[in-house]
Amino acid sequence: MEKVVSLCKRRGFVFPGSEIYGGLANTWDYGPMGMELKKNIQETWWKFFVTDRLDMVGLDAAVLMNPKVWEASGHVDSFNDALVDCKECKARHRADHLIEDAVDDIKVESLEPKDLDKLIESNKIKCPDCGNQNFTPARVFNLLFQTFIGPVAEDTEPVFLRGELAQSMFVDFKQILETSRKKIPFGVAQVGKCFRNEITPGNFIFRTIEFDLMEFEWFIKEEEWEKWFDYWLKEMKKWLNIVGIDGKKTRVREHTKDELSHYSKRTVDIEFNTPFGWKELYGLAYRTDFDLKNHQEKTGKDMGYFDPATNNKFIPHVIEPTFGLTRSILMVLLSAYTEETVKDAKGNDETRVVLKLNKNIAPFKVAVLPLVGKLNDDAKKVYEKLASHFHTDFDVTGSIGKRYRRQDEIGTPYCVTFDFDSLDDKAVTVRDRDSMKQKRVDIDELADYLSDKLAK
Ligand code: GAP
Repeated sequence: MEKVVSLCKRRGFVFPGSEIYGGLANTWDYGPMGMELKKNIQETWWKFFVTDRLDMVGLDAAVLMNPKVWEASGHVDSFNDALVDCKECKARHRADHLIEDAVDDIKVESLEPKDLDKLIESNKIKCPDCGNQNFTPARVFNLLFQTFIGPVAEDTEPVFLRGELAQSMFVDFKQILETSRKKIPFGVAQVGKCFRNEITPGNFIFRTIEFDLMEFEWFIKEEEWEKWFDYWLKEMKKWLNIVGIDGKKTRVREHTKDELSHYSKRTVDIEFNTPFGWKELYGLAYRTDFDLKNHQEKTGKDMGYFDPATNNKFIPHVIEPTFGLTRSILMVLLSAYTEETVKDAKGNDETRVVLKLNKNIAPFKVAVLPLVGKLNDDAKKVYEKLASHFHTDFDVTGSIGKRYRRQDEIGTPYCVTFDFDSLDDKAVTVRDRDSMKQKRVDIDELADYLSDKLAK
């Protein structure tokens, strides 16, 4: 993990937010490489789940919503975590995490504070920071992030920054249905920022108070929920492969009855074996008709769907696959980070760090490297040819060895070296990031050659 965090800072993927002012705990900025990686993951997701299908449409809703939405959704009452403080060292812990980290095979997410206290007591759980066993009773905190509209906070009602994307897809359901003319089953997808007042954010970008989500609501007939649950679980597993998350490090975990969210009848998590244990990467939930029904009851607005095939009207049920975008970035990086022992120019062993990112999400697809400064102008013409086809870097700073090293560390699949021979034979050397094999390719054929390679 430290190596990935260090590479992220060194190569401009992710660095602490507002660092020159001492930072703001658990906020992170995505630098030139990180924002490209994030954008590529998001676009690949959108293509796979939305634009490649006829039965999915998109939404880009406001972050701020009428606070009554969050009352109807149950988030004001039930979107809670319990915390305990260590009376000795003052460290703050999420009670469920404290228990789950100390006791094998236990899940306690939705237990009452008094039951959490009993488990901490009966399992003689100690503070991971100081080793003492002296905690305050568990207290419940709501995760919704409050803010105020208007310049004078006292004069205005608080509103919430959205804690999930889903609610806008429910609130806008009828508008989307009428304007898109979709028939059930169909889905509404959205990508965007969410905010949660997490008690214990941490582990780099794993748990933050501001994060990006990609999720969709899949509207169905109640009797078909099991079929669609299985279908979306399979599609989610395909996605792991498409984005380059190591399938051998993932598993599917069923939520116990006690653990289910207030809206869910069945949930599974796709978990990833991180350096800090098995952790939730994505979720798949059967939300029943809980949300649409609640919004209909609270607003008096009809949320029903008229089925022209049967002349029946009903409130659709919902399957919801949800994907943390920022969590995807971390798991992609943990999957792609590789250290290899290679020989340097003098035949000595050295460590090569390489990000074996899937080609579709790599920040740059190709880098053009003139061997020496004198060749920059000629090499630039090769860059210009390629740049209209792929996101291409033109890297002239440092020795050729250092430039290969940099491109390996940012995961560029192909480096194109322009040398003195290129002036005569009108060809360049293409180096493959993973095998490090080199091949001489005619400049005229280069774009086609790379297109072919990048498509594989
Ligand atoms: N609409 C359902 C929903 O929001 P969730 O399990 O609470 O479900 C969805 O969150 C996903 O968001 C998680 O699977 C995880 O990938 C990501 N996520 C949740 N909390 C996060 C946090 N504090 N920081 C980063 N990602 C988070």
